Amino acid sequence: MNDHPAPSGLSPRAGRRGDAAAIAEIYNQGIDDRIATFETEHRGAEAIEAWFDARYPLAVVEDAGKVVAYAVAHPYRARQAYAGVREFSVYAARAHRGRGAGRLAVLALIELARADGAWKLLSRIFPENVASRALCARLGFREVGTYERHGRLNGEWRDCVIVEKLLVE
Ligand SMILES: CC(C)(COP(=O)(O)OP(=O)(O)OC[C@H]1O[C@@H](n2cnc3c(N)ncnc32)[C@H](O)[C@@H]1OP(=O)(O)O)[C@@H](O)C(=O)NCCC(=O)NCCS
Repeated sequence: MNDHPAPSGLSPRAGRRGDAAAIAEIYNQGIDDRIATFETEHRGAEAIEAWFDARYPLAVVEDAGKVVAYAVAHPYRARQAYAGVREFSVYAARAHRGRGAGRLAVLALIELARADGAWKLLSRIFPENVASRALCARLGFREVGTYERHGRLNGEWRDCVIVEKLLVE
């Protein structure tokens, strides 16, 4: 799976509270693109700091000391039976897409989530989000199926492709 060398200049690490503003900026670009999420409201750094307070596994990728991508795993459901199932998202800064940063962020997240006791990562992806689907396919995520009319974005119905990857044997 991990058969690519890290693209030069890019280095993954666990996220820190001090990364919150950079993460919010990247997330807000993804929100504006309307291809990644049902969210439409920008987030401030304090919303990201809450992820750190909740200790969600979060990986960032740096380029020359600047955070250019992140991936985070949120709880899937509150029920104890699903404690090891985490729903993830990954975002790369617009100017840094297609350089391998998203891929590195998810690879680092897989390790952090596994260390946190996760046994599965899943995500919901808009069908037309070819970059996200390609990244997930490349990392061994299985496309489980498509939820039809799963939500409305700007008044338009959107489907969601579900992807999953088991993290343990
Ligand atoms: C989806 C996203 C995170 C991918 O990150 P990225 O850094 O651009 O992707 P990478 O360069 O790491 O590419 C990973 C793989 O996907 C492929 N890929 C990336 N963008 C692609 C595109 N537009 N079309 C087809 N394949 C693409 C790459 O070729 C690569 O495959 P490879 O390893 O076989 O070469 C990034 O495009 C992004 O931030 N998009 C907006 C936010 C978003 O949609 N997030 C996902 C929400 S679920």
